[in-house]
Amino acid sequence: MQSFIQQLHGILSPQYILADDADKVPYLTDWRKRYTGKALAVVLPKSAEEIAKIVQACAQSNVAIVPQGGHTGFCGGATPDDSGKQIVLSFKRMNQILEIDSANQTITLEAGCILQSVQEKAAEHGFLFPLSLGAEGSCMIGGNLATNAGGTNVLRYGNTRDLCLGLEVVTAKGEIWDGLKGLRKDNTGYDLRDLFIGSEGTLGIITAAVMKLYPLPISQWTTLVAVDSVASTIDLLNLFQKRATSLLTGFEMMTRESLELNTKHFPHMANPLQGNPAYTVLIELSDHESEEHVRQLLETVLEEAFEANLISDAVIASNLSQAKSFWQMREHITLAQAEEGANLKHDITIPLSALESFIKETDDLMRAKYPGIRIINFGHLGDGNLHYNIAPPLGIDPKSFNQANEKAIHELVYSQVERCKGSISAEHGVGQLKLDGLRAHKGAVAHDLMRTLKTALDPQNILNPHKVVSI
Ligand code: FAD
Ligand code: MLT
Ligand code: ZN
Repeated sequence: MQSFIQQLHGILSPQYILADDADKVPYLTDWRKRYTGKALAVVLPKSAEEIAKIVQACAQSNVAIVPQGGHTGFCGGATPDDSGKQIVLSFKRMNQILEIDSANQTITLEAGCILQSVQEKAAEHGFLFPLSLGAEGSCMIGGNLATNAGGTNVLRYGNTRDLCLGLEVVTAKGEIWDGLKGLRKDNTGYDLRDLFIGSEGTLGIITAAVMKLYPLPISQWTTLVAVDSVASTIDLLNLFQKRATSLLTGFEMMTRESLELNTKHFPHMANPLQGNPAYTVLIELSDHESEEHVRQLLETVLEEAFEANLISDAVIASNLSQAKSFWQMREHITLAQAEEGANLKHDITIPLSALESFIKETDDLMRAKYPGIRIINFGHLGDGNLHYNIAPPLGIDPKSFNQANEKAIHELVYSQVERCKGSISAEHGVGQLKLDGLRAHKGAVAHDLMRTLKTALDPQNILNPHKVVSI
């Protein structure tokens, strides 16, 4: 391995090759503290050309590469294994915004740009970059693309894939594919861009991208409403979709149990709604016409919802800071779960028509089999995306509970997802966490096609091996 490290020194200055244990530590454990690996070295390149040379050196010495963005992923995709033979390739130094093309409404940027800085840059130029998620202060656009991240604006603007027009990618051979085009139409054969998006660093290393921008809305209104059943929540969604159409930009659901966990850890995040409702829904409307227009629309639709008995209480944010606090309440559930200790995550999508039966049956099965279990169910309901997370009964050590029951709990949820024709990964990806789940639930033909693609694009299996699919 000495000659491999020497080769790296021919590509990068020594300060960008971290080989000492203490220097490597911050790159070896994932956000959830679920996975800790080892690495031969952590490298911090500055350009696609440097990455291409690193990949060539890795191919020569058969060293595997784990690309790493903000390391906020939930599935262990950016964490190396424990062999100590892989390198971590961090994007921390590749954070340049290359161009804002106002006429084309696009932004071209390097993969290591932090999502929040992209949103801010777009806003400075009068545009909205709509991708938004709880980790936006630290996740990177390359990681968002590699996981095809979702977040809270998918309902209106789509997921990261829908926001991307072009990519630059370093292949497993160490070549640079220049697909950095800002085109909304391009049918020149196979869609290479879409192949790399969502591939979690297993097919190529994304070094830059062209992303779509949108006009900034003039006004946004946020409301919290109390709902007593899943069926009413879906009727409410359908009502807003019909009446507000494309002005509906957020529709997030939180169960009573989720918000109780929030207030346990963050008492200032109390739900402003009356009576501790079974379901709290956060609704956001965004308008390009006027403040008055969207406010009136929101009030009218809420009145209709009251009359139809879909909601029992509503609080409209009276200013920006209250709107922010509603969103913080929603986004703190993940943090409350982290405070509570080890937990089991399920990031699933279910067709809206099957959502009620999924929740009822899965809740019943779960509570019958694991008395006292806490179901921290919340998510992007407008997309049919539930974070059907599980916390152990109170008073039981989470780690030992998970060790004993994790496999069976995942399987219970995933077989219910399959029964409802849903997906076991809506937005977080597969990584190492759902490798077995994907093999069991993707379908044999689809799984085999994925393995065929992986082998064709990375025959030496050096790009993030044993993530997504094993070959
Ligand atoms: P990392 O975690 O570093 O990497 C993720 C995967 O992408 C790994 O497999 C890695 O190898 C690969 N990768 C990273 N960069 C590249 C690259 N340049 N080229 C090729 N492969 C690469 N996710 C959602 O979808 N929606 C949410 O609402 C959401 N909320 C979150 C809230 C919190 C508090 C946290 C901590 C996470 C949340 N996430 C959410 C998960 C996570 O933030 C996303 O998956 C995000 O897209 C990961 O970006 P990252 O830069 O941290 O990627
Ligand atoms: C979110 O939407 O807040 C995260 O994706 C969910 C999670 O913590 O599972
Ligand atoms: Zn989410």
